[in-house]
Amino acid sequence: MGMEETRLTDRLEAAVGHRIADHPIAPIFLNRWSSRAFTSEPISDEALFALFEAARWAPSAYNSQPWRFVYAKRDSPAWPKLLSVLVPYNQVWAGGAAALVFVVSNPTFTPAGKSEPTLSRSASFDAGAAWASLAFQACLDGWVAHGMGGFDEGAARAALNVPADHRIEAAVAIGCRGERACLPERYHAGEAPNSRRPISETVFEGAFPPS
Ligand SMILES: Cc1cc2nc3c(=O)[nH]c(=O)nc-3n(C[C@H](O)[C@H](O)[C@H](O)COP(=O)(O)O)c2cc1C
Repeated sequence: MGMEETRLTDRLEAAVGHRIADHPIAPIFLNRWSSRAFTSEPISDEALFALFEAARWAPSAYNSQPWRFVYAKRDSPAWPKLLSVLVPYNQVWAGGAAALVFVVSNPTFTPAGKSEPTLSRSASFDAGAAWASLAFQACLDGWVAHGMGGFDEGAARAALNVPADHRIEAAVAIGCRGERACLPERYHAGEAPNSRRPISETVFEGAFPPS
């Protein structure tokens, strides 16, 4: 198979729902999408820690690994506490997930060979890379990882005992994709893969265009 044919095959495989890539990419990038309906399937520690393992290998400035994760599995003692800090809109659907994870970043690290901690300007950026790794591994393993910014920051900080200088980046609901019918009707319209703006509005050669 020639290069052009390979690319076309990738492109066809990479079409998911309304999602079509304009450039050839691995299908995983379109297959991952944030559904809200979950089956009742629980997640084992083995499956959950495979996702944390993927996150662990994310790149970070100076290999500082600023990401931290606080999790609870459904029906565990900590579950109600983690669920309760989500905004009501998220509690409704995330309550059906198999696990909840809060992604936290530590803004300071001690560079190799130094004794004093220093501030990282990329702790959030690096934690984002770790969350993305977790989400893509989840998709590869047949799980959905759905990020959430909708939580009460103060309540989460207290409930999770987050150190004062750490930043709570996001929450993540992890579960096995279910039928939209198991969600209240107001969630049905959002239960499909969405699209993206054109790449020409995102990527600029040399500089931003004049405004
Ligand atoms: C940091 C972050 C915060 C988000 N917050 C919420 C949220 O509070 N509630 C929700 O239902 N979805 C939330 N989402 C999901 C986004 O709406 C979703 O990722 C986006 O529409 C792109 O869709 P996709 O993930 O299916 O590709 C969040 C996603 C991220 C990464």
